[in-house]
Amino acid sequence: MKIEFIAQSGAADVLAVLVHSERQLTGAGSSLDQASGGALTKAMGAGRFKGASGSTLIVAAPQGVEASSILLVGAGDAGKLDDAAVEAAAGHAYHAVKLSGAETLAIDAAHLTPEQGARAGFAARLAAYRFDKYLTKQKPEKIPSVTTVQVVTSDIRAAQAAFEPLSAVADAVLFSRDLVAEPANILYPAEFAKRVKTLEAMGAKVEILGEAEMEKLGMHTLLAVGMGSERESQLAVIQWNGGNEGDAPIAFVGKGVCFDTGGISLKPADGMEEMKWDMGGAAAVAGLMHALVGRKAKVNAVGVLGLVENMPDGRAQRPGDVVKSMSGQTIEVLNTDAEGRLVLADALWYTQDRFKPKFMIDLATLTGAMIISLGMEYAGVFSNDDAVAAGILDAGPKVGEKVWRMPIPAEYDRHIDSPIADVKNMGNGRAGGSITAALFLQRFTNGVPWAHIDIAPTAWVKDSKNPIVPDGAVGWGVRLLDRMVADKYEG
Ligand code: BES
Ligand code: MN
Ligand code: ZN
Repeated sequence: MKIEFIAQSGAADVLAVLVHSERQLTGAGSSLDQASGGALTKAMGAGRFKGASGSTLIVAAPQGVEASSILLVGAGDAGKLDDAAVEAAAGHAYHAVKLSGAETLAIDAAHLTPEQGARAGFAARLAAYRFDKYLTKQKPEKIPSVTTVQVVTSDIRAAQAAFEPLSAVADAVLFSRDLVAEPANILYPAEFAKRVKTLEAMGAKVEILGEAEMEKLGMHTLLAVGMGSERESQLAVIQWNGGNEGDAPIAFVGKGVCFDTGGISLKPADGMEEMKWDMGGAAAVAGLMHALVGRKAKVNAVGVLGLVENMPDGRAQRPGDVVKSMSGQTIEVLNTDAEGRLVLADALWYTQDRFKPKFMIDLATLTGAMIISLGMEYAGVFSNDDAVAAGILDAGPKVGEKVWRMPIPAEYDRHIDSPIADVKNMGNGRAGGSITAALFLQRFTNGVPWAHIDIAPTAWVKDSKNPIVPDGAVGWGVRLLDRMVADKYEG
């Protein structure tokens, strides 16, 4: 998808104009309406279109207009045109015409700020995402025809300047979505690591540790998860130093279980295919680093990805095994399907031990219980530090990624005590399953300010209602953390 900023709408196939509630035309829409003796008003009056967000109406362009059609795009209340509303309008505009045969869609944003114009271009890029690389027999009429979105703006230079960092974030979200969407026969730990290695050409430092190196570091807990797999486990370490030299970095850690069968504690067959996106946390961290590097963020940041495949096999770990973590703590593995916390235990310890970060935030599709607690729209935030938590909770609503703070009560900590090891990888029964998982992680943070985001509900979406998040891989967390960093930790 090509995004262009232009001063005057020209010969686009479709010109989209925003309409606010109760049929209030805006910008080029109002002038066209006047010049045509009320053609647009008349078209709206003949039907139910009133400008509600999500509604659109396409009409033939009145005489004297270069574009072939005019798309009226509902933008909701005029007083509430925030970033999210602009993004939604641009997304809906794209979907309304993407299969129409039109190749160029112009969006009239000349009456908006250049920043809002940039938002429209950004939204169009996210809306147009498709994971279609394995479709070899697509019907031509199902392939989007729109290849260029032109944003009409009053200040091309300012819009382009505002678009540059946003476009870097869009690149990063799409990079993250591609990782999440990829099936596990293609995206196994080494392949994931290889794709992350491409960040080096952009200016990051990327190290990939294999099993021998992790063995030396004592990361037996992460390694135990991958023992049943033919695929070698990997740890990817991404560093971006855009801040002051010597400043402690901020750190992000991702669960990258490229496929989670449950291991010997095998999952039921029904729905197991979903566990190809059990690396959504690692994809979010990879995407975040892509965004920070891409827009040359003024911050020192590290991303650490624990990449494994959880398979049942003659070499797989067994329920009841005791493994020693890098921290020195021993863990009784009661359920091999509670593998994410094992991967993160060593990845978190490694991160704080090596980098002495200001804080660590981990992202993980950690528990099915998170979906039971919050439903499919919210990710849960667990933190031992109110300032770190606040950074996440403030950024969420700004980027449309919903987060809700969860407790990590000390009273529940004894639920993960084991009679034969320092800790066990399950609570007592199912009560508070996401909380006991978070309490487990907390034992491997060494007291560093930390937050854990359980993205099991949000990493993947079925039947999306959000025009800029197509069904499937969301790339959830990239925008959230990028925004948090931009708002609180740069400069
Ligand atoms: N990857 C799963 C959690 C999950 C489930 C994510 C459904 C997204 C959708 C995780 O590894 C897991 O299996 N967790 C277990 C933990 C239990 C064994 C303590 C769970 O949630 O059932
Ligand atoms: Mn599991
Ligand atoms: Zn898992």
